[in-house]
Amino acid sequence: MARRYHIETMGCQMNVHDSELMAAMLEEGGWLQARGRADADLIVVNTCSIRHKAEQKVYSLLGRLAALKHDRPGLIIAAGGCVAQQQGQALLKSCPHVDLVFGTHQVANLVALLAAVERGGRPCECGFSYEFAPACPEKSSGIKAFVSIMQGCDNFCSYCIVPYVRGREVSRPQEDVVREVRGLIERGVREVTLLGQNVNSYGKRLLGGGSQPGGFVGLLEALSPVEGLARLRFTTSHPRDLSPQLASLFGRLPVLCEHIHLPVQSGSTRVLAAMRRGYSREDYLERVATLRACCPGVAITTDFIVGFPGETEDDFEQTLSLVREVAFDGSFSFKYSDRPQARAAGFPDKLPEAVKIERLATLQALQAGITAGKFGALAGSVQEVLAEGRSKRGGTLTGRTRCNRIVHFQGGAGLAGQLVRVRIEEAYPHSLKGRVGEELSRALRRPARKEELCIAR
Ligand code: 5AD
Ligand code: SF4
Repeated sequence: MARRYHIETMGCQMNVHDSELMAAMLEEGGWLQARGRADADLIVVNTCSIRHKAEQKVYSLLGRLAALKHDRPGLIIAAGGCVAQQQGQALLKSCPHVDLVFGTHQVANLVALLAAVERGGRPCECGFSYEFAPACPEKSSGIKAFVSIMQGCDNFCSYCIVPYVRGREVSRPQEDVVREVRGLIERGVREVTLLGQNVNSYGKRLLGGGSQPGGFVGLLEALSPVEGLARLRFTTSHPRDLSPQLASLFGRLPVLCEHIHLPVQSGSTRVLAAMRRGYSREDYLERVATLRACCPGVAITTDFIVGFPGETEDDFEQTLSLVREVAFDGSFSFKYSDRPQARAAGFPDKLPEAVKIERLATLQALQAGITAGKFGALAGSVQEVLAEGRSKRGGTLTGRTRCNRIVHFQGGAGLAGQLVRVRIEEAYPHSLKGRVGEELSRALRRPARKEELCIAR
């Protein structure tokens, strides 16, 4: 009888993508997807180590799984992802109930490693490899897919563990990316998100050596005319590398959705320098102004770290004032935490936990008000939505606007995979509700033109 797997994904989109790859590999290897932990013969934990709290969650989940293994000794527990990459043997040692540890570069070997477990082994494979595994739309909704265009990061921001775990930056040749996107479209995908730690520096160093002429702008331009591609997104961008040419594409390429995630981390130039971000507050504001000049409706989201070592009240005030000035569409904010290899772990003037907690709450309250205002302003507007399917709670369809806002709406199930116009009737703090009206029911065969995207009342 075929055996069943269950994957627990922790962390970022990169991990979501890796989990999709793992699922595809396992299914090719004859495994079936379990409904959950309870009926699984194999549980894969795809771990994240970006912040201290994420790593703590990994250990607490692995702890809970020990009880499960105790009750069902035949259960295989595998740990992959960033904590596995970093801890390797140490993880295997500290968690005797874990059967397999495999790093971020070993996803393609998962089935072979499991075979070794079944032969009685306890493998730990954490070597580097820069092969790019193909995307697998059958594991996502089938309508949207991630395509990895580069791996690793060369930036070494002083708080960040990524370059130590994921290695140096390497990009995939443009022709490989375009070929993969074409293949995905043939299999029914309508929206592609290009993935990388720092997509703006795409092409600097290619997998087999040399660089990619045209860089990231060239890649987007090459993908834009691909027949059948309804929407294109990318993440994550580094503000330092966001060129005016790239900004201008938001106003020019109909396929490119009007949303950019542009992590700023702090509003204080002094803190940004200590973080080694390579831009000042003024530089960041200039990038935002350029983006908005090129594409007035562009949604800008960001990440913040509060309580970086040495962050004063005044530094934090500057973060708050940046939030007000930019009026971000949304943000993720985190308390600074030491990551052992990262430089900032050795910085003096660490802040007390209570101060970090208070600053985080202040920042999140400010952002919540701005986000709610932005969502509220959309009530009564008509938005282009890519219908993805029934929402989890059933009843309505779900999809996203071009600016990446979630919409629940009434409409026939046959609309899945189509671009539709939805009239927004109600706005909630993090989602919108609407309907595909009579006059709006005509499905769009191509993305709306940029000038049609502004709020239509
Ligand atoms: N402490 C807190 N937040 C961090 N991030 C990255 N490293 C740390 C750290 N050591 C945050 C940054 C980044 C996001 C993915 O995680 O805001 O953009
Ligand atoms: Fe980490 Fe900085 Fe690279 Fe982002 S750009 S992954 S924060 S080192």
